[in-house]
Amino acid sequence: MDTTIDYARYDRIRPIRWTGTALDLLDQRKLPLVVEYLTCADSDAVAAAIHALAVRGAPAIGIAAAWGVVLAARQVEASDGAAAAAALAPAMQRLNAARPTAVNLAWALARMRGALVRAGSDWREVLEHEARAIETEDLAANRRMGALGAALIAPGSGVLTHCNTGSLATAGFGTALGVIRAGVAQGRIERVFADETRPWMQGSRLTAWELQEDGIDATLIADAAASHLLKGGEVDWVVVGADRICANGDVANKIGTYQLAISARFHGRRFMVVAPASTVDMATPSGDRIEIEERDPEELLGVAGGRVAAAGIKAWNPVFDVTPAALIDAIVTEKGVVERPDEASMRALFGG
Ligand code: MRU
Repeated sequence: MDTTIDYARYDRIRPIRWTGTALDLLDQRKLPLVVEYLTCADSDAVAAAIHALAVRGAPAIGIAAAWGVVLAARQVEASDGAAAAAALAPAMQRLNAARPTAVNLAWALARMRGALVRAGSDWREVLEHEARAIETEDLAANRRMGALGAALIAPGSGVLTHCNTGSLATAGFGTALGVIRAGVAQGRIERVFADETRPWMQGSRLTAWELQEDGIDATLIADAAASHLLKGGEVDWVVVGADRICANGDVANKIGTYQLAISARFHGRRFMVVAPASTVDMATPSGDRIEIEERDPEELLGVAGGRVAAAGIKAWNPVFDVTPAALIDAIVTEKGVVERPDEASMRALFGG
């Protein structure tokens, strides 16, 4: 089997562009109808864009926040990195508070701070270099995970994915969608299904668009159709991303992931989580310790700006859930694959 991947075909979308003076973000609130970049000229604009989901997906919000720190540095005078770190702390706190669940955001900010406190008078260049490194390393990790994850998938398989884990959610290529891209490119995957992913429609708006841009044939399903699909013979693997992976292998990801894992196990399908090591949080022992973001109920009450729910109804809008490690067959990272994750197998690969 030819395992080479034509990245010119399968890796063209870039959600984050550093212009040298500002951060341009492909505005994911408008896709797929409008393809437009939003320009952020300061770090608070980046924090607002992260909170509003103009940029979203765990690795992408970490990368955007790193560039946000570079923008914040423009407002600061300091003789060395330690002084700059103190001056930048409030802006970094505002970036960190933009979203709570994806650990990549805090991870990227901690990495920027670490580089800063070690820097001397060249701290501005050090910050820019670090943001660039976070971005390029993410892209390399995704390509590596694509190869590792695709290798688990037998030729002729079908996959179901959830949310958007593609180029739009990362520096490029994607995590779970990177595995799907690699699997299609290598001729392993014959059928791709995507959940629409209510209420924000990352599947129907973003994943469907990315797959079409690549010319990958795919079928959209309502979230509620997933068990019915998994009961049939079309899907062999459910392949999803992650926002935080705990020390015991529990995984927080987009709301609806947990029920997919239950259904996959019930129907004898396999369940793969694909995420870079920056999503692994060995300091959080298990999923019950993860803060689950709850967003404005308005996201549930309407579709495409138009109200659909009965007036006066209450709504609850948690946007992530936790899948217990026991329901996961494989966690794929750029460092390697953890099969049937638990505390011991996680520690063997990630230490801590
Ligand atoms: O609320 P979102 O759209 O930021 O949630 C994104 C997800 O849950 C993704 O599955 C996860 O971040 C992995 S992206 C590579």
